[in-house]
Amino acid sequence: MTERSFLPIVLGAGLGTRMRSDLPKVLHEIGNLPLVGHVLKALAEAGAQAPAVVIGPDMPALEAAVTRIAPQARCFVQVDRLGTAHAALAARPALEEGADDVLVLFGDTPLVTAETISRVRAELAAGADVAVLGFEAANPFGYGRLLMRDGRLVAIREEKDASPEERAVTFCNSGIMGFRGAVALDLMVAIGNANAKGEYYLTDAVEIANACGLAVVAVAADEEEVQGINTRVQLSACEAVFQKRARLAAMEAGVTLQAPDTVFFSHDTALGADVLVEPNVVFGPGVRVESGTRIRAFSHLEGAEVGAGVTMGPYARLRPGARLAEGVHVGNFVEIKQATVETGAKVNHLTYIGDAHVGAGSNIGAGTITCNYDGYGKHLTVIGKGSFIGSNATLVAPLTLGDGVYVAAGSTVTADVDADALVIGRGRQTDKPGKAAELRARFKAAKAAKVAESARD
Ligand code: UD1
Ligand code: CA
Repeated sequence: MTERSFLPIVLGAGLGTRMRSDLPKVLHEIGNLPLVGHVLKALAEAGAQAPAVVIGPDMPALEAAVTRIAPQARCFVQVDRLGTAHAALAARPALEEGADDVLVLFGDTPLVTAETISRVRAELAAGADVAVLGFEAANPFGYGRLLMRDGRLVAIREEKDASPEERAVTFCNSGIMGFRGAVALDLMVAIGNANAKGEYYLTDAVEIANACGLAVVAVAADEEEVQGINTRVQLSACEAVFQKRARLAAMEAGVTLQAPDTVFFSHDTALGADVLVEPNVVFGPGVRVESGTRIRAFSHLEGAEVGAGVTMGPYARLRPGARLAEGVHVGNFVEIKQATVETGAKVNHLTYIGDAHVGAGSNIGAGTITCNYDGYGKHLTVIGKGSFIGSNATLVAPLTLGDGVYVAAGSTVTADVDADALVIGRGRQTDKPGKAAELRARFKAAKAAKVAESARD
């Protein structure tokens, strides 16, 4: 790409009232990442150094999210929400630094790719003063229309200001606009608010630039990539596109998805080659899976690291801090949270392992529970290597079991156990010969007496 310096301005101060939400619009998520985060990620991929992000005056959560996702980003506050040009001017100090290229993007248009951003910049490098990214809209309602004459972009008309003939135009404004840095600020300052909404429309820069004899061009993108979000329905449409892209990318990277449409990814899901994912699996944020692992149907993973050659599920749940080393087996209805399960260990059925360390090669029997929480604090359970925990064991933390320990089924273990010990923590079994028949006779007689009594009433 070029050596030209590049200032992106991401607009995210709008309230998005049609979302009917307490959350700023651009904090709504797709792929478990705020909308604005997707734009910031695409910008980083396109080589942006320090993007400017325009937020509202009452959006501390948005500012925190921006800093978390792009620590080098600078937030500017637009105090009154007077339109997109007014919003871009909130970043005036950044504009005054005089970057070669200025690109305005909308935080509510999350699917734009680095490649498209670079295409808009390429127009500026090739001599355009203003370059607008447009698309053919299946339903143009609500979008600004791009008015072309002889292959040149002469104006953008917003829905509410458009004549019937202009409304018939289907080539629309995506909201992404590039400006040659030397003219960006002057154009924005020249924009007025004489329109149906009484707002300062950034789109008016196009007519002003033409009047000044500047070169204005339109670049076309796919509607799928530049669709904006004003409603929850549009949010779900963008989520669907995100998921489609993530599924394709996973398969292209060597992952088998048996039923791609039923598998849901997060923005940062990382799956190694030859991972096999059965139907109906959900990846929450922060999941990494090494190669050759099989994730069986209906499993849910979040904040988890899974080693190579693991088998997990069906119906397994990995919560944040779960770490499965190579070759581990995790079976049905097993929940693992903030715990490491070392190489080759097996946790096959109906078990909760929380705040724990399970040594290599250990076997955890069905129904085993680590009692990690006393209502106030969380406590650690350490199980040594090569241990055998019998079914339905209750391990009351804090607790340390040495290597090679054998816990008898049904035990409640409350004190530490030395290596290679057998621990039995349950009532001793007593048998009473003949007692079962005697009990049956007694209960049968009692029932017969009751039936006779109710017949008399
Ligand atoms: C805008 C465009 C329209 C384009 C459409 C594409 C203008 C005037 N209109 O319309 O041509 O087809 O996007 O999706 O630019 N924002 C602020 N401060 C404000 C107003 C808006 O930060 O005062 C931000 C919003 O948070 C949002 C973006 O700017 O991220 C766009 O605002 P929105 O109100 O959604 O504009 P549209 O009506 O969709
Ligand atoms: Ca919008």
